[in-house]
Amino acid sequence: MTDLTFTVESGGALRGCLRVPGDKSISHRAIMLGALAEGMTAVTGFLEGEDCLATLRAFRAMGVRIDGPDQGRVTIHGAGLRGLRAPAGTLDMGNSGTSMRLMSGLLAGQAFDTVLSGDASLNRRPMRRVTEPLALMGARIEATESGTAPLRIRGGQRLTGIDYLLPVASAQVKSCLLLAGLYAEGVTRITEPAPTRDHTERMLEGFGYPLAREGDRTVAITGGGTLLGTAIDVPADISSAAFFLVGASIGPGSDLLLEHVGINPTRTGVIDILRLMGADIEVLNPRLAGGEPVADLRVRHAPLHGIQIPEDLVPLAIDEFPALFIAAACAEGITVLTGAEELRVKESDRIQVMADGLTALGIAAGPTTDGIVIRGGTLSGGTVDSHGDHRIAMSFAMAALRSRDPVSIRDCANVNTSFPDFVALARIAGLNLAEREAA
Ligand code: S3P
Repeated sequence: MTDLTFTVESGGALRGCLRVPGDKSISHRAIMLGALAEGMTAVTGFLEGEDCLATLRAFRAMGVRIDGPDQGRVTIHGAGLRGLRAPAGTLDMGNSGTSMRLMSGLLAGQAFDTVLSGDASLNRRPMRRVTEPLALMGARIEATESGTAPLRIRGGQRLTGIDYLLPVASAQVKSCLLLAGLYAEGVTRITEPAPTRDHTERMLEGFGYPLAREGDRTVAITGGGTLLGTAIDVPADISSAAFFLVGASIGPGSDLLLEHVGINPTRTGVIDILRLMGADIEVLNPRLAGGEPVADLRVRHAPLHGIQIPEDLVPLAIDEFPALFIAAACAEGITVLTGAEELRVKESDRIQVMADGLTALGIAAGPTTDGIVIRGGTLSGGTVDSHGDHRIAMSFAMAALRSRDPVSIRDCANVNTSFPDFVALARIAGLNLAEREAA
C-alpha cells in the first residue's frame, strides 16, 4: 500500500473560474437507471471517480454494455429491469457506500444471487439500515454478525411493497427501497424523518417512471413499470465545489467563480450555513439541466463568525461538514453542531477525525456524541491524518490558506473516489499543493 501525502504551503488566495467534476450521487444513479432501462442512455458530465467506476464495473459484470467513460461521456445500452445476468464473482464496491446501499435494493429483486463487498472502510459501515427494510419486503440478505458487508443477496425472492418510516434521514436508504420497489408487487411507500437529496426521484421521473410524492417527506412507487433510456447532463458536484466555497471564503483576496454547479435544494445546506457565518456567495444564472437546478457560484473572501448550525440544515449539508469545520476554525467565535451523529458512520468517523486534525493544528475542537464545538482561532500548520477519507483530505488542504506553517495531510489516495482532478484544479485556483507518494 502506498501512502499519498499532500503538503500545502501556507497562505494564498483562490481566484479564477473553475468547473469541478460531475455530481457523484447523480453519476451513480445515471449508471443504475440507465442499466435497468429499455434502450440507450447518453450521459455527459459523468464523474470518473473510483466510486462511480465501481458502480459502472458492477453493471458491466452483470452483462450490461457500457461505452466510456470518455471525458465524462458514457453510453449505457440498457438491459431492461429483467435483463441483468449473474456476475462471475463478488461485486467490489470499493469505498462507495452509495454503490453498496443502492445496489442492494435492486439486486434483491433479481433472479440470481450476488455478493457485495468493499474496502476496509466500507466493510465497517452499517448495512442493517438497508437489510432490515429489504427483509420486510421479502428479500433474503446475509450480512456479518455486526450487520456489515460482505452482503450475500439471495435471488429469486418475491418482493412486496411496504410502508416504511426511515429511522435515519438517509437518501441512500430511501433510494435503495425505491429501487427494490421497482421489483416489488404493489406500492412501496417511504417516509423520511427530514428531507434528503431527491436525485433518485427526479431521475426515475426522467426515465418515465411515475412516482407519487406526498409532501416533502413521503414518496411512493408501484412495481412492474418500465424505465425508458434518456439523456442525462450531470451538473458539477456541489459537494466538490464546497471545498472551494470554504477555501475562497477563508482565503484573503479570494474571488472564485464555480461553474454549472448543481443547486438542488436538498443539497444547498452548505451555502446556507456559510452565509449564516457571513460568507459572500452569489448564485448566478440559475437554470435547469435535465431535471436538476444548476447555477454558477461566485464566492469572495469574507470575515466569518461562529454560529449554532440549525439542525434542519444537517441532512442538506451532510457531506460538507468536514469543509465547514475548517470554515468554523477560521471564524471568529464558537461554532456548535448538533444532530449530526450520522457523521460518525461516513467513510471515517468524521467528527473524531476532524476534531483530531483540528487539534493537531492548534484549534480547540471538542467532539460530542452528535456533533462538535469548534472555537475559531489561528491554525498553526502541521501534519494531520485523513484516515483515508477523501473529504477530510480535501478539507484540510484548504485549511492551509489560513495556516501559519504548511499543512501536510496523510492517506490522501481516496481523493480519487470523488474528485480525481482535485490537485490540478486546486493548483489552478491558487493552492500551493505538492503530492508525495511513500511506499
Ligand atoms: C448519498 C447520500 C448520503 C451522502 C452520500 C451520498 C447518495 O448518504 O452522505 O455521500 O448519493 O444518496 P446517506 O444517505 O447515508 O446520508
